Amino acid sequence: MSNVATLTINGQTIELPIIEGVEGDRGIDIRQLRQKTGFITYDPGYGNTGSCKSAITYMDGEKGILRYRGIPIEALADQSSFVETAYLVINGELPTREQLNRTSVQLNDHSLVHEDMQIFYQNFPRASHPMGILSAMVNALRSFYPELITSDSDFEEVYVRLISKIRTMAAISYKISRGHKVEYPRADYTYCANFLNMMFNTPVKPYILRKELVRALNVFWILHADHEQNCSTAVVRSVGSARTNIYASLSAGISALWGELHGGANQAVIQMLSDIHEKGIKVKDVIKRAKSKTDPFRLMGFGHRVYKTYDPRAKIMKHNCHEVLDRLNYQDPLLDIALELEQIATSDPYFLDHYLYPNVDFYSGIMLRAMGIPTSMFTVMFAIGRLPGWIAQWRENTLDPEQRLTRPRQVYTGLTERPYIPIDERGNGPD
Ligand code: ACO
Repeated sequence: MSNVATLTINGQTIELPIIEGVEGDRGIDIRQLRQKTGFITYDPGYGNTGSCKSAITYMDGEKGILRYRGIPIEALADQSSFVETAYLVINGELPTREQLNRTSVQLNDHSLVHEDMQIFYQNFPRASHPMGILSAMVNALRSFYPELITSDSDFEEVYVRLISKIRTMAAISYKISRGHKVEYPRADYTYCANFLNMMFNTPVKPYILRKELVRALNVFWILHADHEQNCSTAVVRSVGSARTNIYASLSAGISALWGELHGGANQAVIQMLSDIHEKGIKVKDVIKRAKSKTDPFRLMGFGHRVYKTYDPRAKIMKHNCHEVLDRLNYQDPLLDIALELEQIATSDPYFLDHYLYPNVDFYSGIMLRAMGIPTSMFTVMFAIGRLPGWIAQWRENTLDPEQRLTRPRQVYTGLTERPYIPIDERGNGPD
């Protein structure tokens, strides 16, 4: 195969280098395009634009493959823990037993949130969305820890602090939203067990930890740990490219994740399924609306920019969801509706022709509901899981000598040059 692409524009022919990844993915390096031809590329949503070279996550959307640092998602979901996977995603290798123990000790050491931060929580209106609170709080962490990252050990300190505290911060926001006493982290609990305990333990009703729920949460967070250049990760890299500190960059990523076309879909799926259940809407009518050209409604939890087949995370999530409901002996009518929707959609020509299959968010909310997590916290759960990926991508971007300030161009479609008219000469305008 040629290692250059030839482009002819207005009679001028130029050669553009082709770069190739280790899995055969190919890109045309257009960095010289504007300088040599005066043209830019036009690609809203960046569906055809590679913004970086990355060694963290590999996806094949046609084959439904997802690997973190080369290790298939299926193997990690089956055998790893969230803390171990986070270490892998950030550091590039699975930890030794000693490294994992050290990380667990560090996570414990950093698990408290500064007491002064609790005052912030108390002052948000009770109905605030937890994603808005989380984004503000992660940004606020920078005021408590202003030190810059100048070495690998500084970076280690910062990433462990973030991974540990985000879980405590998420649980605090839930407790405060309920008007309950905040539950502190415990040194004798693992990462996921600690989160569940901080969420659900109360002085009057001790929370009984169930190891199958702890395992299910590990799997949930492993499945979310990274997903290469998705919307929120692109935002984290973009904000970081301005040499913005890691806390502010992650806070921006959390805001991007909140949107219902991205991480907010897990909340939107439950709202859609609840509407079907409570308002007696027929599944076939929902499918009809999703297919309509004139209705902006979309089947939430379906479709993906990269996957053109079943999302490999959704397969594991569906299995995980069934297991949790079985173990808890929890009957959820929303699961039956979801299964019916999937069955109809995956045999409908519209969905097949558009390559629309369930994504990771389709079954995750049903599982979280069964675990007792409130719907408004679903996207926060996603954010906790995605944190290792954002951190790894932020770091990779800052260390990459080829990276520059993110600054796309545009094709201007506004008015051409016209004179400034002084206010007294503008007439009265419309009434
Ligand atoms: N329901 C109905 N139609 C859909 C859906 C859907 N869920 N998703 C895409 N389509 C259709 C579009 O209407 C469009 O049809 P057309 O070509 O006939 O006009 C076509 O598929 C392509 O849609 P795009 O919006 O261009 O595809 P894109 O790659 O930009 O969208 C997205 C991906 C945003 C995820 C989309 O599939 C969607 O909106 N899904 C529902 C929201 C969702 O579940 N988001 C979570 C994604 S996973 C994650 O971020 C964690």
